[in-house]
Amino acid sequence: MHEPVMVTEALEWLDPGRGGLFVDCTVGLGGHSQALLRGGATRLIGLDRDSSALERAKESVALWSDRVELVHSDYRHLDNVLLTRGVTKVDGLLMDMGLSSMQLETPGRGFSFQRDEALDMRMDQTNGNTAAEILREADTLTLANVIHEFGEERYARRIARGIVRARANDSIETTGQLAAIVRRAIPYRGHTRIDPATRTFQAIRIWVNSELEELDNFLEMAVKKLSVGARFVAITFHSLEDRIVKHKFRALQEGSKVRLRVLTKRPLVPGEEESRRNPRSRSAKFRVIERI
Ligand SMILES: C[S@@+](CC[C@H](N)C(=O)[O-])C[C@H]1O[C@@H](n2cnc3c(N)ncnc32)[C@H](O)[C@@H]1O
Repeated sequence: MHEPVMVTEALEWLDPGRGGLFVDCTVGLGGHSQALLRGGATRLIGLDRDSSALERAKESVALWSDRVELVHSDYRHLDNVLLTRGVTKVDGLLMDMGLSSMQLETPGRGFSFQRDEALDMRMDQTNGNTAAEILREADTLTLANVIHEFGEERYARRIARGIVRARANDSIETTGQLAAIVRRAIPYRGHTRIDPATRTFQAIRIWVNSELEELDNFLEMAVKKLSVGARFVAITFHSLEDRIVKHKFRALQEGSKVRLRVLTKRPLVPGEEESRRNPRSRSAKFRVIERI
């Protein structure tokens, strides 16, 4: 069962009980959207670049279907989504980044190495190259940089060389093949808590989906859509994402056409109870900015 991360905090900071239009930029399985609607949001627009997520979200918000619109879109096109609906201001924005449990667990998506399956990894399966296609072309230096930067992997160069060597013999088409290449490239250091392939899978996923590209421009565009007193909640799961949100929020507070105030000096993190109940929540960082 999917459980939205830091949902109590999201409701507390977004205060949907005031009513108004809320935008969930990453609707996923609809957990946060459902909570916002239940909490009193008068209207909700939910975006996701993954159309199968929208199918699931539709069920989660079915009770409020007359107040909800789910849109298949990258949140980086939020301005367009709002423009085409004649919306100029919103009363709250939420983004909850990363992968949903559905994406990770549905066989055939290629995000997980727990099963051997086609190496796809696209959140939007209607668009762009799969991980297998990208791995076919990329040179060693690019691979090493991606794995180092997005995976914060110290053995990135070895892994990159391992990928290039392996694909000379046989194309890399499955998660199992990639995981085996990574494990072979990393020196054995006894039993580790996380699988050595985890960081490389994360890096390649971020790359395939261009997850960090234009993120700061998106944040700048999104805060301009807030009405006075409205807030933007950003939940991240990766230190690189959190760094971008932190710096951008600060920069926006210091100099932006609209007046903004960062309400979370330090990011909020899940409480002990939530971390215990929902291990996925453990790396969450929650930041809020308000239009004043
Ligand atoms: C962690 S899940 C969201 C879970 C959701 N808050 C819930 O309660 O069910 C993240 C979602 O964001 C979507 N996503 C990631 N990047 C996106 C982007 N650039 N534009 C739109 N959706 C995106 C993913 O497809 C995924 O469904």
